[in-house]
Amino acid sequence: MFSRYRKAAPRPKAQQAAETERETPLIQQPPAKAATQAAPAATPRPRKAPMPPVLNEKELKRREKLAEIRVELHKRLLDTLNLAALEYASESDLKNEIAAICADGLAEMGVVLTREERATLYQELFDEVTGLGPLEPLLRDDTVNDILVNGPKQIFVERAGKLELTPVVFKDEKHLMRVIDKIVSAVGRRVDESNPYVDARLKDGSRFNAMVPPIAVDGALVSIRKFKKDKLGIDELIKFGAFTEEMAMYLRAAVGAHLNIVVSGGTGSGKTTTLNALSSMIADNERILTIEDTAELQLQQIHVGRMESRPPNVEGKGAVTQRDCLRNALRMRPDRIIVGETRGEEVIDMLQAMNTGHDGSMTTIHANSARDAVSRLENMVAMAGIEMPLKAVRAQIASAVHLIVQASRLQDGSRRMVSITEVTGMEGDIITMQEIFRFKRYGIDENGKVMGHFEPTGIRSHFSDRFKYSGFELPNHIYTQKAAQ
Ligand SMILES: Nc1ncnc2c1ncn2[C@@H]1O[C@H](COP(=O)(O)OP(=O)(O)OP(=O)(O)O)[C@@H](O)[C@H]1O
Ligand SMILES: [Mg+2]
Repeated sequence: MFSRYRKAAPRPKAQQAAETERETPLIQQPPAKAATQAAPAATPRPRKAPMPPVLNEKELKRREKLAEIRVELHKRLLDTLNLAALEYASESDLKNEIAAICADGLAEMGVVLTREERATLYQELFDEVTGLGPLEPLLRDDTVNDILVNGPKQIFVERAGKLELTPVVFKDEKHLMRVIDKIVSAVGRRVDESNPYVDARLKDGSRFNAMVPPIAVDGALVSIRKFKKDKLGIDELIKFGAFTEEMAMYLRAAVGAHLNIVVSGGTGSGKTTTLNALSSMIADNERILTIEDTAELQLQQIHVGRMESRPPNVEGKGAVTQRDCLRNALRMRPDRIIVGETRGEEVIDMLQAMNTGHDGSMTTIHANSARDAVSRLENMVAMAGIEMPLKAVRAQIASAVHLIVQASRLQDGSRRMVSITEVTGMEGDIITMQEIFRFKRYGIDENGKVMGHFEPTGIRSHFSDRFKYSGFELPNHIYTQKAAQ
């Protein structure tokens, strides 16, 4: 059979008989249940205990056998498929082609699989040829937020704030490295012993980071933050208990009145999600410029300019830092500037922008409390090599930052806005702040869920007048009434 997806000289076609589906597998073990296990590619089920199941010897052998068949068929696919033509092939054409080639292969090898085993195998091979192999089903699974690979045999995912070990594995370290190479070479980067870590963005927008041996001691480490096509909006965040209606009203006023906002939080605490939600409150007629290391924000407004910094190339040249982007952004007449995460020298330009007419700018920062966020800003200024007395640095920060929103991932995996704090000015050398809303915890219930509620502290906003002039008159009760949880 001639196919434009095959290389010039196709292999001879094997007996038709092998293609007929048989219900009895040639591999001797009972197939139906085993097939789904051997093929983690299907849908890895969430597990409670973070330990892989202990497999009996038969099952192990069966898996080994399937793995061998997979490797053999993969080789055959690479020999046979015309990779250049694949780019233009539709998914269904390609699936059919792969199925046909594999059926030939299985027949030649004299292997007969059950229908289920065969479907899983074809899907795995399709993923291997076109995508990221064993990671594909996890990337497709919408309930997975993060994928964390610790060497070829241990892959964790985060679902609903909780980490779970999956049954998904790579064949060996080489297989894992091949997938990493595939990802980084697609973005013109390289990762090897001399260049052992890399950041990249996957085709679907997911954020990818890898570190390979010898820096990664027990095998390559990969972290993927999955790109959510629909970022959580204000309403969903309220529904999930991230904050309350009253807090949302307050934040809407803060954004509308062009307060400069810093979202602070630990890693994976929901900073970017919060920043995205806050930026959705910006009016449609404002010109917004976003600057990120990996473009994650999804703004709905029409007037948005997005920038993504760039690491140096293999010769160490061509880097464009967030600071470069920020400096350039200031010449592009923005109404608001949003920096995905401030972590280095760009802090100077960020503070300057906030202080000089780009009110309403926003960023995130890694810190564990509002006070901590301010110290982090001070440290970053010091590390950027600016010789300025501490008091002057603090004065800069106090007049630049108006609001610090603290995001947190609690023990039970839930993410909440645990504090909204206003920066009110300076008293002597100290930056003064007042907390307006907080999440008060009482303890943990029998299911491990954190018990607590949001409450206003009773203090009225320092920016009440500003809110009023901007058309946001907040009712008194939001500062006094304990919110129902
Ligand atoms: N309130 C929430 N409820 C449920 N899931 C959430 C909530 N906030 C964030 N998430 C999910 O948690 C994951 C991490 O969120 P996000 O990327 O915003 O964290 P981050 O603090 O920016 O992380 P990093 O420090 O890695 O940049 C995402 O998959 C996001 O969809
Ligand atoms: Mg983030």
